[in-house]
Order: sequence, then C-alpha cells, then structure tokens
Amino acid sequence: MKRNLIIVSACCIFSFTAISQKKSIDQKVDSVLKLMTLDEKIGQMNQYNGPWAATGPLTNDDKLLDQIKEGKVGSMLNTTGAKRTRELQDLAMQTRLKIPLLFGQDVIHGYRTIFPIPLAEAASWDMKLIEQSARVAATEAAAAGVHWTFAPMVDIARDPRWGRVMEGAGEDTYLGSLIAAARVKGFQGKGLGNTDAVMACAKHFAAYGAAVGGRDYNSVDMSLRQLNEVYLPPFKAAADAGVATFMNSFNDLNGIPATGNKYLQRDILKGKWKFKGFVVSDWGSVGEMINHGYAKDNYEAAMLAANAGSDMDMESRSYIQNLSKLVKDGKVKLTVIDEAVKRILRMKFVMGLFDDPYKFSNEEREKSQWNNAEHRKIEREMAKKSIVLLKNNPLPPVGGAGVGLLPLSKQTKTIALIGPFIKAVSDNLGFWSYDWPDDSSRITSTYDGIKSKLSADTKLLYAKGCNINDSVTTGFAEAVEVAKQADIVVIQVGEARDMTGEAKSRSNIHLPGVQEDLIKGVMATGKPVVVMINAGRPLIFNWTADNVPAILYTWWLGTEAGNAVADVLFGDYNPSGKLPMSFPLTEGQIPIYYNHYNTGRPAQNDNDRFYRSAYIDLSLYPKYAFGYGLSYTNFEYSDIKLSKSSFKPTEKLTATVTVKNTGNYDGEETVQLYIQDLFGSVVRPVKELKGFQKVFLKKGEVKEISFTITTEDLKFFNDKLEKIYEPGEFKLFIGGASNNVKEASFTLIK
Ligand code: GLC
Repeated sequence: MKRNLIIVSACCIFSFTAISQKKSIDQKVDSVLKLMTLDEKIGQMNQYNGPWAATGPLTNDDKLLDQIKEGKVGSMLNTTGAKRTRELQDLAMQTRLKIPLLFGQDVIHGYRTIFPIPLAEAASWDMKLIEQSARVAATEAAAAGVHWTFAPMVDIARDPRWGRVMEGAGEDTYLGSLIAAARVKGFQGKGLGNTDAVMACAKHFAAYGAAVGGRDYNSVDMSLRQLNEVYLPPFKAAADAGVATFMNSFNDLNGIPATGNKYLQRDILKGKWKFKGFVVSDWGSVGEMINHGYAKDNYEAAMLAANAGSDMDMESRSYIQNLSKLVKDGKVKLTVIDEAVKRILRMKFVMGLFDDPYKFSNEEREKSQWNNAEHRKIEREMAKKSIVLLKNNPLPPVGGAGVGLLPLSKQTKTIALIGPFIKAVSDNLGFWSYDWPDDSSRITSTYDGIKSKLSADTKLLYAKGCNINDSVTTGFAEAVEVAKQADIVVIQVGEARDMTGEAKSRSNIHLPGVQEDLIKGVMATGKPVVVMINAGRPLIFNWTADNVPAILYTWWLGTEAGNAVADVLFGDYNPSGKLPMSFPLTEGQIPIYYNHYNTGRPAQNDNDRFYRSAYIDLSLYPKYAFGYGLSYTNFEYSDIKLSKSSFKPTEKLTATVTVKNTGNYDGEETVQLYIQDLFGSVVRPVKELKGFQKVFLKKGEVKEISFTITTEDLKFFNDKLEKIYEPGEFKLFIGGASNNVKEASFTLIK
C-alpha cells in the first residue's frame, strides 16, 4: 500500500509540476485577470497611435498619456526607440496593476537596414534568405523597443493596380504560404521572449488583396471555396508557423466587414485552426464598420467586432468608449472580454514583459544595432537575388552572336548613366520604410554602387533626363548628348517610393511621366542600352520591352540597392530572380494570372477568337509570366521521367529532370513544378505551383532534379469545403517559368 501511495503522490507531484510548468503562463494570466476591473480589462483591448508618426487618419487626443496612467491603454503603435518606449512603459507602471504596454510597429521589410520590398524578396524564391531578412528586421526593431511587428502581410493579390501588392508575395498561394511561414519564423526567431525576437502578425485577414478593381479598401466578394482555396492558405501557414497575432482587414467580405466577421475570426481562425494568439483590428476598422453600413454607431461597431473575435481595437476608440456599457447592457458577455484579455495578457507574459517591462528598451543594445555591417551584407545578398532579368538580347558588335548585352564589362571605357533613379537614395526604399537622418550617406545609389565597382579607367557620364512623374522633357537633350559620348548606356526609370503602397492604387500602371519617351530618345542614338526599372508592382512598358535589348527589374531594393545593382550589371552576380506576379500587357487585361481555369472554350493561341473570353484587340498572354526570369547563362531541361505512370493514394510518384547549364556563366535556376488536375468535382486550374528547387550549376554542369508527389500535392477544396484529392488524370510540368515547361502525365488510381 505504502509503495503505491508513494507512487501515487509522486505522480501527483509530477503531474502537478508538469501541469504548473505547462500552465504556468495560463495560470499567471488567470491570476492577473481575477484582479482586474472591467475597465482595466477593456483598457488592454485598446491600442493607440503615438503622436510621433501616423499610418492612418489620426484622432488628436491630448489625454493619451494620462489614459496610459489610468490603465486605459494596452498597446501603442508607431512608438519606437529604447528611450521613448521606456518613458511610456514608466507610465504603465504607474497603473494599479502595472500591466506592461505592448509596442507595435510596421516593420515590413527592415527597420534600420531597409530590405527589398516583400514582393521583390518573393522574386528570390529563397526561403532561407527571406527568413534571414525578417530575422535582421526583428533584431534591429527589438533593439529599438519594438515588441510586435505588423507583418508578414500575406494577402494573395492578382491585381497590380492595387498598391499593396508591394507588401506581399504576389499571386501564388503555394509560394505565398511558404513565404508567410519563412517570415513568421524570421521575426519570431528562436522564440518569443528573446530580446531579438518580435511577435509577428499575419495580415490582413482576409482576402484584402481581392478588392474589386484593385482599389484599396474596396469590397471583396467570392465563394467560400475560392476563399479557402486561394486566400486563406498563407494565413494558415502563418498560424502553423506559430504567428503570435493576426490583423483583420478593412474590406467587407461577402457583405460582412472582416473586422466584424465571425466566420473568419471565430469559425476559421480560433475555431478550426485553434489559434491561441490575439487579433488586432486594422487602423480604425472597428469604427469604420459604420461607414460600411454594418454598424449604426461606435457602440454597435464595438459590439459586432468584439463578438466576432476582434480582440484589440487599433485607434478607433470604439472599445474604450463603449465596451463597458455593452457588457452592462448584456450586449457583449463578460466571457468575450475575458477571452480577449487573456489572449492579450498571455502574449505579454510570453514576451517576458511582466517579469521585465523594460527588457526591450535598452539604449545600449539599440546603439549596437545602429550600423550593423553584417546586416548590410545580408541586405545586399537579398537585393541582388531579388533582381529579375527580363531581357538580355545580343547586340553586335558589343555582345557578338548569342551573347547577351549583359553583363557589362568592367573595362568599359565610357558608361552613360541616365534617368531619375540613377542618383536616387530614398526612392530605393519603397513604401513602409523609415527615413533616417543619415540616409543620404547610408543608402547606396546606383551611381555610387557602379562607381565603387569600377576603376577610374571607366568614365561615368550622368544625366537625369527627366523627373519620375511629370511631362517635362527639357532634360532629354542633355541625356541624348551624354549617351552619344558613351560606349554603353544604362537608364534607370520607374515609380517613386510613394506610388505603390497603402492607398496607392493606380488605374494607369504604365511607366510614369515621360520616362519611356526618354528611353526612346536615347535609343535613337543607336547606342547599346540597358534599362533598369524600379517599382513596387508590375508595370507596363511594352515599347521598352520590345525595343531595348536588356532589361532588369530592380524593384525597390533598399539600403544596399546601388551595390546590388552593380553586382548584377557587371556580372559579379548572375541574376536568378523569378517573377512572383504576372505582368499584364495593358490595364485592360487585369486580372491576369497563370493559375486560371480552362473554361469551356479554352484558347490555344491568339488566333482562337471564339475562345476563353479573349479580347479581340489583345493577346491572351501577359507580357511576362508568373515564374519568369532569365539568367546570363542558359539552362536546358531534359524531358520529365516519372517513376511510374500511375500510383495509388498510399504511394508516391517521383518526377525527375536533368538540367544542364549550357551557357558561359555559373548560375542559379529555380526549377518549378506545376500540376494540373484534368477533371474534378469542381473545375481545376490549368496549372498550379506545387514545388520548386533552387539549383546552382557551374557552366557546363548537369544536375538531376527530382520532385516527390503525394496526394497532399493534389488536394483542393471541393464544393462542400472539404479538402480532398480525387483519383484521375493529371498533368505535371517542370521548367524555369510557368509558361516554359516540360510536360508529363500520370494517373492517380483509386
Ligand atoms: C494601416 C495598414 C496596416 C498597418 C496599420 C498600422 O492602415 O492597413 O497594414 O499595419 O495601419 O500602421
């Protein structure tokens, strides 16, 4: 008996200890919650913007700091710096329960060291490097007192008129899901609570990228099947990667604003996905449900948002001004408040802020991250791998037969550098970046990057030629003059950093201003011309694309932009980027994306007029396809070999190609795998990305690349929203772009 007793008590002690270890944070949360008044609980659900910077329409509130002392604020955004966050945390420590503040910030692509915009990083298809980019951003932001970044933005977007395409990973669900996970891991590092890790935030939940007409904040209406098939998987990937928070979105979805959408926040996120973090609204989106016509006033908006699972109210003041009355009126149950507050408190415990509210507000650590050379090196690596080579035609006599105009020789005697981006500094940063006092010396312009790459034997001529976005052509003459004196001309054009981003949807996404006229004028000199395009979105530049021999898409590449551009221009890095979005021929062709359905009248080419909703005045095809990107070398693909022509659901299929580097440069290729389900209980896309491998091949080298396919790769949401696979006929494609593939077929048998 005695022995058993000992065992029983030991087990109890063990299990209690285990439970107390496992539940220690939950217990602590409960112990704090028990002490809180209703007003203190509601204070935790309230987030204000500091008066120092704004990323939305500010409500001037001079009582803001008092409200922190009164326990009415749970979090601040746009409030950074070890010193400032310490000062505000001091105010929170004057509250009755000393519950620490959370500091949130839009650290979207870098903090002190600015990285390429996320859409550019997506063009690298390099998950390790994308994770590293987020890791660097987190390290620098955490050193500046930031606990929480409102990133990654994981909205799938098929409409380049929408300004926020620059923040995401483009049009593909599979690529977008991998990138979502990589960025969450990068931001959250070895675990929250470390002082180099920040809480990540999957946004904007959900389907914000499907706004009608690509017009920001506009409505979204789609089947739940499309929502689950295309737009939710990157959020699920972020949740599976352990993302700490979600942010809901401005748009209404199928008639219900996302901020008040129970299906999204309770059924899917907190229900089906069992998400344990908390949901913050977007800026003012609780109160904006009045504008939507979904709530008649802030009282009702607060009720709808809280009951739908939106835990924290960013900047609308609906919660702080109405939740107490809503609870007293029985419109919002106390359990709803408690659940939201527990989620928020839990993250504050996880971050270690109850133990030390000032652990992130350390001026020494902030200084140490102010000029981190290692971070700049990583940024330059990311930047050059984000560059996409769109065209590289030979040009006699410079390149000779078959050899592209690029890379340029470092021995070139005279190079003309022309265009409004050659000496640009902050216009290399893109939207959602920060201006620092030393930017002019810290950001490398194209001019400076090329200058530091070449010896003094190369003469650099410069002419701005024109502005980014006006009709002034008086600079053309000088540009043409300078071009005539050069052996080669490099022109850099594009969009200013504030032409793509939030509230920056554009109906005309051609190269702005008179930039393409400048290119025409310089081309008329007959000199060999390379054009580089800075942009936050796919742009339209058909004349340039058809007439200029060499074109690089240089996005907005961040702090080391000029060095990365020079690395690629002069062949120190062989460009390997692949487009994460289709580039339309005209705005009228939008939306255009590769993974469309076949329709009942699929067109096989541009002459099929009675087919697939083709325009009679336009080609069927985009200017550049999803997954497209050239190299200074050539990669030759063999036919696909399949391990079997049919397989059972319990088996696997292996698809193999050999890839040969047949050109004159070592280089990296992204070998892409697409699958088409030929017949299904719902129609299926003509192809879907299901895998890719980045492979480095020395010139002349051959490598065998294999992909393993299982039923997991064949699953889709049927009309009952079940994620299933169906036996049947499939096609499999492997190649260097969605429109340049080898093809094979296989059968999945019952
Ligand atoms: C903005 C954006 C959101 C951002 C938030 C805070 O309106 O929609 O992405 O995180 O407000 O700046």
